[in-house]
Amino acid sequence: MKILIAGANGQVGSEFSQLNLDQNIELILCGKDTLDITDKRLTEQLFEHHRPDIVINCAAYTAVDLAEKEPERAFLINETGCENLAIACVKYDVHLIHLSTDYVFDGTKSLPYESNDIPNPINVYGQSKLAGEQKIIHLLSRYTILRVSWVFGQYGNNFVKTMLRLAENNTHLEIINDQLGGPTAANDIAMICVNIAQNSDRFTGILHFSGTPFVSWAQFAEAIFRTAHIEGAIKSVPSVVPIKSIDYKSSTNRPKNSTLKTSISLSHFKIINWQKSMLKIVKLLN
Ligand SMILES: NC(=O)c1ccc[n+]([C@@H]2O[C@H](COP(=O)([O-])OP(=O)(O)OC[C@H]3O[C@@H](n4cnc5c(N)ncnc54)[C@H](OP(=O)(O)O)[C@@H]3O)[C@@H](O)[C@H]2O)c1
Repeated sequence: MKILIAGANGQVGSEFSQLNLDQNIELILCGKDTLDITDKRLTEQLFEHHRPDIVINCAAYTAVDLAEKEPERAFLINETGCENLAIACVKYDVHLIHLSTDYVFDGTKSLPYESNDIPNPINVYGQSKLAGEQKIIHLLSRYTILRVSWVFGQYGNNFVKTMLRLAENNTHLEIINDQLGGPTAANDIAMICVNIAQNSDRFTGILHFSGTPFVSWAQFAEAIFRTAHIEGAIKSVPSVVPIKSIDYKSSTNRPKNSTLKTSISLSHFKIINWQKSMLKIVKLLN
């Protein structure tokens, strides 16, 4: 089985080459330099050349704050890019696995979001990601949209790496405690994507996948500091000063409730505890 990864140099995309894969799986790893998903002609040429069985789209515009200032670029990558991939998938009869986000929701629900809840994004990034989902749903009959939240891992920029860096020079840190979510390890997401690829007929439509337990950013930071200190990755544990979103430097709206209920069809995969994955990442980065 040939699996083509778009966005192979991002946080999630970089994890595929680290997985222990069955021998019958051939990965075609495409970074932005080889597959720019905003280029429709190039996208189709790559499909023609490689003839993949499955495409996993990890390519995205993910700069949430910057998206407010450059919405055209966010929509070009997150909407038009998805459309180009979907058109190529129709032409070459390929199942598309596409990563999406908790930010398609407004965060006002009191329970974890389920995949049939109605999206209502409150920032440009979320709107552009929802627009991408809608293109896929409109054009394709064989697709999986996998919504994930609060991604962290050894590659790219993420909250775990930022906290480890800030812990070096700060005795206390102000961290938001009125946003709740499920931190989710990038390598767990890559592993789930490959499982979906191997059984694509069983995993169609929109699915949710989240690490547990749900925490606030402040609780997540405290757990990172405790773990990193025990592992010797930081010298001392900064004290976490909980603050409200409204007092944070960013003016971008973010959902208060980012929790995703992992879909029943994915629940036979081991429930993913982010604390174990975070420990692994802290050890790897140490
Ligand atoms: N990060 C999170 O916390 C989070 C949370 C929920 C959902 N998600 C979703 O999960 C998926 C993966 O996220 P991630 O954290 O791995 O993102 P990431 O680290 O930002 O990776 C995205 C990759 O896409 C590439 N890219 C940008 N424009 C492209 C284009 N036109 N063609 C091809 N590639 C392009 C980027 O390259 P450059 O960096 O060179 O531009 C980058 O390598 C995304 O769909 C994201 O929306 C992420």
